[in-house]
Amino acid sequence: MLERRLQKVHVKDLNVGMFVFDVGRHWIHHPWPHRSKLITSARDIDQLIDYGIREVTVDLARGLPLIKLKEIEEKKEKSEDKELAGKKEKRTRERTESVTMAEELPRAKKIYFDALETTREFLADTRAGRKLNVAKVRDNVETMIESAFRNRDASLALIKLKTYDEYTLTHSLNVGVLAISMGCHINLPRGKLRQLGMGAILHDLGKTKVPLEILNKKAKLTAEEFNAIKFHPVIGAQMLETTSNISDQSISVARYHHERIDGTGYPDGLSGEKISHFMIITGMSDVYDAMSSDRVYRKGILPHEALKSLFALRGMQFDSFWIEKFIQCLGIYPVGTLVKLSSGEISLVLGVNHSNLLRPKIRLLFDSKNMPITGEKIVDLAENNNLNREIVEVVAPKPLGLDLSSLL
Ligand SMILES: [Fe+2]
Ligand SMILES: [Fe+2]
Repeated sequence: MLERRLQKVHVKDLNVGMFVFDVGRHWIHHPWPHRSKLITSARDIDQLIDYGIREVTVDLARGLPLIKLKEIEEKKEKSEDKELAGKKEKRTRERTESVTMAEELPRAKKIYFDALETTREFLADTRAGRKLNVAKVRDNVETMIESAFRNRDASLALIKLKTYDEYTLTHSLNVGVLAISMGCHINLPRGKLRQLGMGAILHDLGKTKVPLEILNKKAKLTAEEFNAIKFHPVIGAQMLETTSNISDQSISVARYHHERIDGTGYPDGLSGEKISHFMIITGMSDVYDAMSSDRVYRKGILPHEALKSLFALRGMQFDSFWIEKFIQCLGIYPVGTLVKLSSGEISLVLGVNHSNLLRPKIRLLFDSKNMPITGEKIVDLAENNNLNREIVEVVAPKPLGLDLSSLL
């Protein structure tokens, strides 16, 4: 008779390879054909979470050895990547957003600042050699995904408000926000979004082991210092490999986010098909945020200029298909950009019209005589009666004496 080692486990602590002996619910109220199942993918766990199941009974005496599991996961990943790539020429269906930017913004702010605190904690923990609190990071990623499902533009509006004390802190979170938005844009299933979001927010974990004097050095780096920086993806991945409950896909993001399809990336100089869409999405988010952020040694460029520079890399460092998707996601004028209209009015971009990137939703701030417009005047430039207004240029907030954080 088969020996059983039954144990109650919270769904968040489930891992691929565990055998769920009893899902603990009547068949109508759980997603599987039977009450027992071997967990072969993150999707199995997601289905339980989606059904609101919090706890299941696992049989620790059953399950698969790690090597076999990796094979199953890799096989599945490959076919799913192919499926996604097959949609290249088709227009992907957009997930409909359920609430307006104005409704989501207060919630998105809370979610962003909570996640910022968690990021601060895990960077400090890692620096001090303490264990990474994976469950907390995962909870934050989960709420970020929820917010993006409700309205993607709200969280995107927050990433360029300002840099809070340390670059790696805001940068890590921003790359998470950008990657999740992009994942939503291409309709990734929830489980994959979670893996991508976790990988993206943790992508620069290895930098916590690079001395700050090197990371913040204003003068040209020596070859040795540059090599120390180039090693951060390897260190980050090693740290995550020794942490439980992090998927291989998230670890790959940390390991390969500086690889480029033309082979010019590091640390391994991978090229072409070897670089997955998760790595590309995180790589583009990383470059975009880095270019548009102020650093100790240089000022960041405006977001729309960063997108232009990224566009120039298409077909070289990044696949054109993914660059175009990224721009479709963020818009030509990303949310939070100040623009001047042909009418002479100054306005703030509040929402992307994915079907007409040149005509976003805006809030009017100043009239043509530079007088502040009182009350909230939202204009959808894509609507027929607004076609007489066009964006003529992007303006920087500082010369106008504007503080974006007071506008959002
Ligand atoms: Fe990095
Ligand atoms: Fe980075």
